[in-house]
Amino acid sequence: MNLTTEQQSILDGSKGEYLAKCMRWLVQWGDVMGAEGLIKCDNTHALLPVPNLMARNASDDTMRSYMADLKQACEHRTAEGCYCTLHAAFVTFEDVDVPENDPEQVAMQKELADLAANAGFIPTFTCAPYLVGNVPVRGEVCAWTESSAVVYANTILGARTTRHGTESAIAASLLGLVPEYGVLLDENRKGSLRVEVTANLTHPTDWGALGYFAGKEAGLGIPVFNGCRRPSQDEAKQLCAALATSGGVTMAHIVGVTPEARTLEDAFQDEVPEETILFDNETLRAQYESLRQITGDEIDACILGCPHASIRELAEIAHLLKGKKVADGVRLWVDTARGTKGNADAMGYTKIIEDAGGTILTETCPTNMRIPAKRIITHGFKQAHYSRGMIECESIIAKTDACVRSAVAGKWLGD
Ligand code: F3S
Repeated sequence: MNLTTEQQSILDGSKGEYLAKCMRWLVQWGDVMGAEGLIKCDNTHALLPVPNLMARNASDDTMRSYMADLKQACEHRTAEGCYCTLHAAFVTFEDVDVPENDPEQVAMQKELADLAANAGFIPTFTCAPYLVGNVPVRGEVCAWTESSAVVYANTILGARTTRHGTESAIAASLLGLVPEYGVLLDENRKGSLRVEVTANLTHPTDWGALGYFAGKEAGLGIPVFNGCRRPSQDEAKQLCAALATSGGVTMAHIVGVTPEARTLEDAFQDEVPEETILFDNETLRAQYESLRQITGDEIDACILGCPHASIRELAEIAHLLKGKKVADGVRLWVDTARGTKGNADAMGYTKIIEDAGGTILTETCPTNMRIPAKRIITHGFKQAHYSRGMIECESIIAKTDACVRSAVAGKWLGD
């Protein structure tokens, strides 16, 4: 890669060992990806996770060196002019009565959160930063972790970010630079797969089904959705999360919605393919069926808010639960950002959900915490997909009202 004199001097150690290491990460990564240089990065969403010992089987030594590295990162300041927020953690700082919220892990994560805040990171602790104030504008160059948020930033906001991991996002935050490759460049934002949508999409989970289908078909490509109406924010959230679950999608185009895709021609940069794949009502149903193979009806967890719930979803869940009780033996979790929970507290939604026996979980989610469950029900395709591997449970995908009805009944009642 071509480096400026200043970048080369940082690489050579002029600003200390840690920033030289950050520069080395970016340069090596850029070289591998074929970048010609580094460009200014305006916005990051970084992951500073304390590895969960139980989930990842990290040794004490690994934990110590990992923590030491993250603490070293936090001895620096985030780059001037770069807006940096923090991704969800593996634990919650709330007092929940599950052994998985190991106090030692919580203490370490809290320590890290304080250090990161001093370094200039805004500790949003969410997988949906665009719901709590990190809303980049069209064209803004970002370095975001969290695959669902990456797709949302590129597809819905028209911002530009490749998929980042912990180290690259920290390096981008401290240096304010990213290697210029992939969807940061116009030519790499061209659609690769045309999806004609004729299905009747009536709920955010239906949009999750569309994303789950298209992610499988697109792989690492860029699907272009044609024929569908404009999604709501919650619908777009589910679409983007599912695209990055079944596939390695970094961005999609929704014709007439994605800022740079006013038309099909725009989305394909004037080379519209003849070949299309169809997403009709039958394909929609098939996505639900693919995450409903179960060996019994009883459920022991209902997980709502994947990605983290918006205030609108919390209002809906409170409305559905008002005056009801979650069945004995069922845990109902609603995952959200602490900022959104603050709003829900003020608006009375938290009380309604808690009175019904539910728990609002902030900073993390049951899947990240590996909360044990045998059979869960959820409205998020991402949660339904990953919980099967990460919690090793059976999962049922359903719309929000069906999830809540089943949680109250203690068993899957169907749509
Ligand atoms: Fe967020 Fe957990 Fe889903 S971190 S995207 S709620 S798996």
